[in-house]
Amino acid sequence: MPVIVEADSASIAPLLGQMPTGSHSVASIDRMHAWLDQHADEYVVVLGPGVGLATALECAEDLRIKRPTVSVVLVREHFDTDVLARSMHAGVRDVVVAGNDDKALTRAVERAHQLYQALRGPGGVRQLGRVVTVFSPKGGVGKTTSSVNLALALTDRGARKVCLVDLDLAFGDVAITMQLFPTHSIEQAVGSEDSVDLAMLEGLLTRHEDSLTVLAAPAHPDVRERITPLLISRILRALRDGFDYIVVDTSPSFDDATLTALDETDECVIVATLDVPTLKNVKVALETMDMLSIARGHRHLLLNRADDEVGISVEKVESILGMPVSSQVATAVDIAASTNSGTPIVSHKPHHAASQAYFHLASAVTGEPVVAPGSAAHAGAPEPTRSRGLFRRGRNS
Ligand SMILES: Nc1ncnc2c1ncn2[C@@H]1O[C@H](COP(=O)(O)OP(=O)(O)O)[C@@H](O)[C@H]1O
Ligand SMILES: [Mg+2]
Repeated sequence: MPVIVEADSASIAPLLGQMPTGSHSVASIDRMHAWLDQHADEYVVVLGPGVGLATALECAEDLRIKRPTVSVVLVREHFDTDVLARSMHAGVRDVVVAGNDDKALTRAVERAHQLYQALRGPGGVRQLGRVVTVFSPKGGVGKTTSSVNLALALTDRGARKVCLVDLDLAFGDVAITMQLFPTHSIEQAVGSEDSVDLAMLEGLLTRHEDSLTVLAAPAHPDVRERITPLLISRILRALRDGFDYIVVDTSPSFDDATLTALDETDECVIVATLDVPTLKNVKVALETMDMLSIARGHRHLLLNRADDEVGISVEKVESILGMPVSSQVATAVDIAASTNSGTPIVSHKPHHAASQAYFHLASAVTGEPVVAPGSAAHAGAPEPTRSRGLFRRGRNS
């Protein structure tokens, strides 16, 4: 409900009388910010005549960037074209003269509501981004390689905004795998549990491509101790506001960071390789996820290094783990070479069988076809079947 900032109690009643029932008054800009923090669906802030012009304009400028869906309406005892011009420049949506027209504030608040609904899309429903966690209880199985390539495939050539979060907090290597040199990382968010929002996080992201950005892991392992589960969950929630998909790379254990990501996760990609110790650990991990009710019905098994020669068939893996394989990537020297050169295979060789497997995984995660640029499906050919058989026909190295 609308909030009005006014310290003079005599001015409040007539203004509240022109605003919708349930509108609320606060005495200061600080109180207004506290109100906004707790009311994510607020659409208008009315700054009463008691708020000085400079303070009001500063507040409007701040909200213009940080909360673009909140309109600022300025009420003045009198005003001139100079005030109007400065107000508009600061992002004030409407200026109303107190006592001039007793419906002017009502109309301004209504207009703010219309704008808010338009910005939130049809039906006022805002689509929040989905968290996709890439997990395996084993190290070195290809989690980071899969996270990076899946994130790139999910951008669908710029159609979706994707953020890749490196939650392998001690030894994260997303940045190096993509040859990025972050100036900021999650480290700069330490201690900001109560103030994390999208605007703040945007300052910490490193851009890879227009539609893919990365929140890098700290440069030093000891910083991990200072990154709390609360901070991680608030970061993931804030990122949902600005991205279609948030892909999370994890460390190979159920540590606090991984468990928090799994708690927030909508889709979970579990990476396994065809060796008995890994399969045993993945089995235990799946049982743990069952106990914790994590991503039931939203799990996707990615077989990495799925090579024929090793003596364990895909069917055997499916029966051991009790779930179907969503996609499989063979051992390919091109993948290792891509890691070493910092050019992920999905960007570098989108038609490579491994890239196709990542696009296929992206389709499984989104429930929509995601195919390599320039492939037959993009040229109007029928959409490829999503049956598991697609990746059984040939080996993809
Ligand atoms: N299918 C594959 N074929 C060849 N090399 C691979 C494949 N998958 C991963 N690798 C290589 O294995 C190494 C470890 O992979 P990585 O993704 O860092 O594993 P994790 O994150 O699980 O520790 C990297 O050098 C990567 O290039
Ligand atoms: Mg890794």
